[in-house]
Amino acid sequence: MLVLGIESSCDDTGLALIDTSRVIASKIASQIQLHALFGGVVPELASREHARLIGPLQDALFNDAKISLRDVTHIAVTRGPGLMGSLLVGLNYAKALSFVLQKPLIGVNHLHAHLLVAGMEHKLIFPALGVLVSGGHTHLIRMESPTNMIVMGKTLDDAAGEACDKFGKMLGLPYPGGAYLDSLGQMGTVHPRLFPRPYTKNNTLDFSFSGLKTAGLEWVKKNPEALLPSISLQESYTREVLQKASQISKDGAASYLYAVADTLTIKAKRALESFDPQCIVVAGGVAANSFVRGKFTELANNANIPLYIPSIELCTDNAIMIAHTGLLLAKEGFYHDLNLTAVARGKIIPNDYQQI
Ligand code: KG4
Ligand code: ZN
Repeated sequence: MLVLGIESSCDDTGLALIDTSRVIASKIASQIQLHALFGGVVPELASREHARLIGPLQDALFNDAKISLRDVTHIAVTRGPGLMGSLLVGLNYAKALSFVLQKPLIGVNHLHAHLLVAGMEHKLIFPALGVLVSGGHTHLIRMESPTNMIVMGKTLDDAAGEACDKFGKMLGLPYPGGAYLDSLGQMGTVHPRLFPRPYTKNNTLDFSFSGLKTAGLEWVKKNPEALLPSISLQESYTREVLQKASQISKDGAASYLYAVADTLTIKAKRALESFDPQCIVVAGGVAANSFVRGKFTELANNANIPLYIPSIELCTDNAIMIAHTGLLLAKEGFYHDLNLTAVARGKIIPNDYQQI
């Protein structure tokens, strides 16, 4: 099997080729610099950029791989959740390839792909507890098998990544601020009681991060010296630049991220108690966060369960995870026809596979 994976759910255009044992080639084009000018992803611009970039990326991918498009056996594409206009670019591109090459099309759930990619680096034993933490989603998922994933809890408002990005913005960091906030926080000291653990005093496995964002805003208002000095458009917030930030800024970042990580693990611990998972998988962009990694390592050690977090490049959006999930589905004989629909963020993805 040689699977072409296509990812275009948000602001990264990705293409990857994998066979049953390895990644043959992968390309990713990020639109971050464009959207940073507007302080967040502009959906219309994102879809135009996907349409502009996807063809040249395909050329570059096959150039690197030194194989022909005709050798591809399956086409896997993100069908959702995501921005509708962005998804449609990748989906229609995939449909055209599937039709021309007469190769099966497989629509992939982006959230499942984030979690399942951990299986490329470690052997996943099911059932597993999946913790999906990204810019748009915060889900606890009971992973029964690659094709049977049950949502146990999710955020009722903002995702963990959104909470990090917004606090970063309040401090003066560019969009998306999560990774900069992480670097800043690593230079600070955690004051555990500085920020609340929102929506934890209940029995549900759902999350709500909007209260934490408000607490962050109040704290910044009371501590204006935490604001970062602005830099010119040509500069970026490198470690050296962040090093010069005030101690209160560094401590605020550390304490805020600790609150995010602690909130995630409080609910994950509860989820662990409700079934008998063989491992924990933490994935999505926020799984790159050092505080989240630290807190989940502690949780897994205490529970004596293996913890698998994909390497940083596989945590953030990429097409390898789409190709890998497509491969797992193809092995089970699952595919879609050309009626495959895109599913916007917040909508349920139907289990509408056909099977050979
Ligand atoms: O999974 P992802 O690449 O895209 C979505 O599907 O959303 O996640 C992007 C999110 C952004 O909110 C970004 O700020 C956050 O992941 N992120 C981080 C870190 N690296 C990426 N958040 C905190 N710490 C990081 N090191
Ligand atoms: Zn994602």
